[in-house]
Amino acid sequence: MTDHAIDLAALPRDFAWGTATSAYQIEGAVEEDGRAPSIWDTFSRTPGTIDGGDTGDTACDHYHRWREDIALMRGLGADAYRFSVAWPRVVPGGDGPVNPKGLDFYDRLVDGLLAAGITPCVTLYHWDLPQALQDRGGWPERATAEHFASYAGLVAERLGDRVTRWTTLNEPLCSAWIGHLEGRMAPGLTDLTAAVRASYHLLLGHGLATRAIRAAAPGAEIGIVNNLSTIEPAGFGEADRAAAVRMDGHVNRWWLDPVHGRGFPADMREVYGVDLPERPGDCAAIAAPLDWTGLNYYFPQTVTADPAGPAPYARQIARPGVPRTGMGWEIDASGIETLLMRLTEEYGARRILVTENGSSYPDTVGPGGAVHDPARAHYLTAHLAACARAARRGAPLAGYYAWSLLDNFEWAYGYDKRFGLVHVDYATQRRTVKTSGRRYAEVIAAHRALR
Ligand code: NOJ
Repeated sequence: MTDHAIDLAALPRDFAWGTATSAYQIEGAVEEDGRAPSIWDTFSRTPGTIDGGDTGDTACDHYHRWREDIALMRGLGADAYRFSVAWPRVVPGGDGPVNPKGLDFYDRLVDGLLAAGITPCVTLYHWDLPQALQDRGGWPERATAEHFASYAGLVAERLGDRVTRWTTLNEPLCSAWIGHLEGRMAPGLTDLTAAVRASYHLLLGHGLATRAIRAAAPGAEIGIVNNLSTIEPAGFGEADRAAAVRMDGHVNRWWLDPVHGRGFPADMREVYGVDLPERPGDCAAIAAPLDWTGLNYYFPQTVTADPAGPAPYARQIARPGVPRTGMGWEIDASGIETLLMRLTEEYGARRILVTENGSSYPDTVGPGGAVHDPARAHYLTAHLAACARAARRGAPLAGYYAWSLLDNFEWAYGYDKRFGLVHVDYATQRRTVKTSGRRYAEVIAAHRALR
């Protein structure tokens, strides 16, 4: 077997073959049918925050083109789709009155997916906090976690008769650390205390939402999605070794330990030096039993000590000669295998979904309208092969959602960075399946042929 042959027989027969997106990145229609602004509307309209001055105002216009997008998924042969519900569409004020038209949109989408034989996986929070809640303090405030749980419960009440698979949070690391400490994402703060408090309330929100979803939809299968990295020290010295432990704490353990009942890691509490806003009962709420664990994997990290930098006083270095995607991210498919095994062996995960994995390249439309992206097709194949190796070694891997179905609004990078299996021409909204999309379809078909 070559490196990139995928051992498809190692994957379960009912393996979910999916694609993933998120609301603000694809929907557009930000002022339609009663949607209120989110922190990403505010952030993207702040000059200097987004490359090219882009916003999610129109994005892929998925709010109007969702039928066409479902047809694209069918064309790939995918039988699963992970999308997010926009909280500011459904509860525009963050708490208080529900906007029925907001819920109706997702209701139609779910029906459309099911009619096409595609199983939905609903993410309740993919970073678009209602601005009204940010105005009252946002995630650093406990009330935001409570409002999140109420919103989660009401979405589950409406969709829970047809949706089984639920994600509470997408990549809380980005909301807390990039949004509140590094300032490169909404709400754009650089405040360690706010960041640590936000991280705590995000995880509390996850736990309270889990409870609310179960109450509303007893058959729900609930998970949380974390973006994990493999972490290696840059050098052999003690300083880099300790930096790697801190970065592992910051990126991986801070998010995994509490939801697995281990509490927040003691070493990282010390590194941050910020009191957690703990109350009795929170620990148990955060550790509410999960039905599955979600892994988003993009790149490995090699780190060195950075005493002058922000917490965790460690920073990633660029290894010379390592291949990179168009984001500048190092490519190492074995990282996904390592992380799947870590979730299995160290955290005892009983079921794992790769909820995102993908790559950005500067695609161009060729003569005749084709979009040929061999590098992305190669990234996809190599990572699927690594997933299958983990499954062969015993990881309970139940599905893979490629990021992303469509090119879309890549946050602070705007539309310049393309992750889609399907190309989007933003001037015309024309969609073109790329070579990588066709490759994915072949893999899915080959696995199906084994059943
Ligand atoms: C993870 C995030 O969930 C998604 O929104 C983003 O576009 C991809 N990574 C690529 O950066």
